[in-house]
Amino acid sequence: MKILFIGDVIGHPGRRAFSDLLPAIRSEHAPDFVILNAENAAGGFGLTPEIAQELFAAGADVLTSGNHIWDKKQILDYLDLEPRLLRPANYPAGVPGRGWGVFTAGTTEMKIGVLNLEGRVYMHHLENPFVAGQEILKRLRQETPLCFVDFHAEVTSEKRALGWYLDGLATAVIGSHTHVQTADEEILPRGTAYLTDVGMTGGRDSVIGIEKEDALHRFLYSMPSRFSPATGRPWLNAVLVNADPASGRALSVQRLQRAV
Ligand SMILES: [Fe+2]
Ligand SMILES: [Fe+2]
Repeated sequence: MKILFIGDVIGHPGRRAFSDLLPAIRSEHAPDFVILNAENAAGGFGLTPEIAQELFAAGADVLTSGNHIWDKKQILDYLDLEPRLLRPANYPAGVPGRGWGVFTAGTTEMKIGVLNLEGRVYMHHLENPFVAGQEILKRLRQETPLCFVDFHAEVTSEKRALGWYLDGLATAVIGSHTHVQTADEEILPRGTAYLTDVGMTGGRDSVIGIEKEDALHRFLYSMPSRFSPATGRPWLNAVLVNADPASGRALSVQRLQRAV
């Protein structure tokens, strides 16, 4: 069972890179299931129902998200309507949408659980992702041993710690949010594939996907300024996890970086 997870898609250049590059990745690696973090897909901030549908049509099976999922108000009702779109599970009760789901991988008929969590260090004050993650995974594993976790978090220590905490419960714990791919992929001792951050999909000539001039303006002058998705040299950052469907254990984890 090959699971492809694509890092935060940023605005139109990121969506374009995803739709342009996925066919070649499909023919090379034949993923059974494609998960994509879409929190930045609409103009760099948030997601709209139309863009979510565009990403599904282009080949995403499930969309995960993070702190930016709330940026476009149109998404709030859609979060309750579309089970293939996840927001982090550890928001308080009463928040629209859901943080996990069990899906069927099209070609294989195998079930896969997907869980989205958000970190708390330098981020929102949320429920504890370690406690929530362990509880939800125990429930998911009653339905399937294949369980993928997108941990949307800022600091490497929190991400690494969650990887250890969920080792053996999750098939993979892969980080998102910081938009720079790390080179620390490994399979932990109890069979969980781990990567601190998957990276982003968007313009490479940028500051984490935003036009470099926009980001520099804010660092130089500390004034509010407009942030636009970068267009220069779009690329796609992803990770491919191959797992044993009977045990849910990861067999391999491979980082991908593809330029348009
Ligand atoms: Fe992001
Ligand atoms: Fe984020």
